[in-house]
Amino acid sequence: MKQCGVTVWFTGLSGAGKTTIRMAVEQELRSQGYKVEVLDGDIVRQNLTKGLGFSKDDRDENIRRIGFVAHLLTRNDVIVLVSAISPYRTIRDEVRQKIGNFIEVYVNAPLEVCEQRDVKGLYKKARAGEIKQFTGIDDPYEPPISPEVECKTDRETLEDCTAQVLTAMRNFGYLPTNLATRKI
Ligand code: ADX
Repeated sequence: MKQCGVTVWFTGLSGAGKTTIRMAVEQELRSQGYKVEVLDGDIVRQNLTKGLGFSKDDRDENIRRIGFVAHLLTRNDVIVLVSAISPYRTIRDEVRQKIGNFIEVYVNAPLEVCEQRDVKGLYKKARAGEIKQFTGIDDPYEPPISPEVECKTDRETLEDCTAQVLTAMRNFGYLPTNLATRKI
């Protein structure tokens, strides 16, 4: 069966679990033989968007460039998994319009939980004033209004979150019906 291109866009605070869910979804799709590409904010910022900072303009430019590449891949039937904080609603919606085949996954965990996890130690630095414009601390995050999927990572397991994403991909017609129902 011919694969259908789609961009699955994971948005949420640093430490909410975007990369973790994205990796689980990626692994499942790859094991099923799908062609998958990944655009992860942390990695993209070392090459495609190297040199950009965290002002609103720079974040929007980061998202615009990620969206541009995601669009090229999506229209060539690749499944694109994007994980980026992408804190601004307008640019997320702009990218959604451009790409068309688009699933927005709001990876939602309360700030306190993300801060407690502090996987990269960045919240501590932001609280100490060593990093400025840190999302959730002294920079905004605008949650999606009607995302296709919302993963509440403080009360749902990784398996649940992964299954929700795969189910949405199936329900919107980007995957055949048997994949998401498979036990993972
Ligand atoms: S976005 O806002 O432009 O979408 P992106 O996801 O690419 O952000 O990059 C966020 C990553 O950059 C975080 O995971 C974190 O490791 C790092 N980072 C460094 N400074 C900041 C900051 N001020 N705000 C958010 N993340 C930051």
